[in-house]
Parts: sequence; C-alpha cells; structure tokens
Amino acid sequence: MNGGNYMTKKLQIYKCEKCGNIIEVLHDGPGELSCCGAPMALYEEKTEDAGKEKHLPLVEKTDTQVKVYVGGVSHPMEDSHFIEWIEVITDGGSFKKFLLPNNKPAANFNILKNVKEVRIYCNIHGLWSRKF
Ligand SMILES: [Fe+2]
Repeated sequence: MNGGNYMTKKLQIYKCEKCGNIIEVLHDGPGELSCCGAPMALYEEKTEDAGKEKHLPLVEKTDTQVKVYVGGVSHPMEDSHFIEWIEVITDGGSFKKFLLPNNKPAANFNILKNVKEVRIYCNIHGLWSRKF
C-alpha cells in the first residue's frame, strides 16, 4: 500500500512535546506529522519494567476474552497519575478502553484470537507494550 519508501506508521502513536496532544495513526501517508509548528515525536514503546512501579501489561487469554491488568501490583489510579487507556491489537484491528482515576487498571475485551500486541498508556510514565 505504501510503495515501500517509508516505514508504515499505522497504529504508531505520536506526541506533541509542546501542547501534549497524543495521536494514533489510522491511515498511513507520507507526510510528516506536526503540531504547534514542530514535528511530532514518535512515542517509544517500553517493553521492560524498570524501577518499583510496574507498567507492563499482564495478559490472560480465555476461550472468550482477553483480560488485561496493569502491573503485578496494581498501578496507581489517582488524579495525577493513572493509566489512561489499554489497547489490544489483533491481525484485523485495534480495541481500546479508556480509563479514569479510581477505575481499576484493567480491562476485558471480547476477542477470541490473533492478539498481536497489548499496549497501555500511563500519563506519567508513557507507553508500554507486550507483543505476542
Ligand atoms: Fe505510571
């Protein structure tokens, strides 16, 4: 679809360092993404926990659901520090649950198979990914 001249951006997440806008790419185009007059930064996905807070999503697959938890010890869900969303990416799409402070840092998705990746976003510590 993209002619091979650039890496696909589909489902990549970009952030504006000035205003804090965060976007996810749904359709791939060759142009550079910019906001507030500057290029947007590709959000680097972290794949290993470091330090005492745990962000790597824990994933349990059943016959009918994909259950996602954030942190072996639950991640904080306070006004100033919380998991904003959990996303499951499959061969055919992506499924997202937005969370609020005081929600559990967890989500269930009615997805049966072909899970490729689970991502979560912490408003302080950024983007975390577990690939399958
Ligand atoms: Fe965090």
